[in-house]
Amino acid sequence: MLIAPSVLTADFSNLKNELDSIETADLIHIDIMDGHFVPNISFGPHITKSIAKLTDLKLDVHLMVSDPINWIDQFSIPEVEYITVHLESNGFEEAMDMIRANGKKVGLSMKPSTHYDRILPYLDQIDLVLIMTVEPGFGGQSFMDDQLVKIIEMIQLKRRSNYQYLVEVDGGINFTTIQLCHLAGVDISVVGSYLFNLKDRDKGIAHLKICEL
Ligand code: DX5
Ligand code: ZN
Repeated sequence: MLIAPSVLTADFSNLKNELDSIETADLIHIDIMDGHFVPNISFGPHITKSIAKLTDLKLDVHLMVSDPINWIDQFSIPEVEYITVHLESNGFEEAMDMIRANGKKVGLSMKPSTHYDRILPYLDQIDLVLIMTVEPGFGGQSFMDDQLVKIIEMIQLKRRSNYQYLVEVDGGINFTTIQLCHLAGVDISVVGSYLFNLKDRDKGIAHLKICEL
């Protein structure tokens, strides 16, 4: 399992140390919220560029914004590997083209209430499917078990049709819920509050990666 810590719950007054403490992870997950698509505001391209300077890990940008087209160019910095937009956002198809044109890997995400059949037309064009396992907007919520059906469906479709996308889960991942995702065949787990509440994060990341204590 690849581990992508979400810095949303990191201590931003101590950002360098927080990022150093998760350097054994695989990617840094960057949650961008505009206060409109979700009822919360996080941070934008300026802070993202600062984060990029403080870590050697590649960034996995998750755009929870109503109009992603307005933001993609600003997030297309060299340190960013994936940019993910939501199926529920305005102009997401054009946004996906912009991400690709900017040389970044394309992610597509769905809110929990969105049926997976809406993503089917895009599965052969994307590098990542990000399945929200909480209502987007806040860290520290509980994993929604009912999203497991969607997770399994995305993995079965990929195997059946030999699609190339990775499956990422986001929200409420801890040592227990990651086991379910591992069994289902998930590739990347975003881990926010669970990891940042651990004292020994190296050990936590090692256990999460192998999904064993
Ligand atoms: C929720 C964000 C998540 C969140 C994960 O809107 O997309 O990335 O920060 O945090 P935890 O792991 O605390 O649920
Ligand atoms: Zn996220």
